[in-house]
Amino acid sequence: MPSEILITEDQIRARVAELAVEIRADHGHGTPIHFVAVLKGAFMFLADLMRQMKGDVTCDFIALSSYGASTKSSGEVRLLKDLDRGLEGRDVVIIEDIVDTGLTLAYLQEILRAREPHLLRTACLLSKPSRRKVDVSVDYVGFTIEDRFVVGYGLDVDERYRHLPDIRVVKGVS
Ligand code: IMP
Repeated sequence: MPSEILITEDQIRARVAELAVEIRADHGHGTPIHFVAVLKGAFMFLADLMRQMKGDVTCDFIALSSYGASTKSSGEVRLLKDLDRGLEGRDVVIIEDIVDTGLTLAYLQEILRAREPHLLRTACLLSKPSRRKVDVSVDYVGFTIEDRFVVGYGLDVDERYRHLPDIRVVKGVS
């Protein structure tokens, strides 16, 4: 079990509440907001963020190929599970766990933009800017972190540790 805690439960709770207020304020109080969460890593972030949101909010899920058992991005992204509903004319916010190279998010933004939402914004719990390979826009970032491999709060290494309520560093993985 990784023991080095990078971000505590309390820090996550406080930041998620701030993000909910910021997202609602940016879209206006009467506007329905549609969250598109990226499986599996974003499930916990989505659940907590949704519970903090005021007003009309809906969600849908999409799954993209991940690194599998490896921790390195292959640079190739595939769509594994598509959304249940269309996005045309809606205010959409992508909910992602972490932006690393940015390749996954760049691909996702491109395919969702083609579905003609009214607005397409992105919220990521974590960002590792030093690892970026493509310039991708992220409107809401929970925490900016160094180049360290982290798990917990939905994030895994080889499907483990998603259940941890805080974010921890895994040693020996980069
Ligand atoms: P990107 O395409 O390189 O930006 O990779 C994004 C995806 O890689 C994320 O959605 C995560 O699934 C995974 N990932 C990147 N860094 C980490 C990490 O530190 N811990 C766990 N998963 C990570």
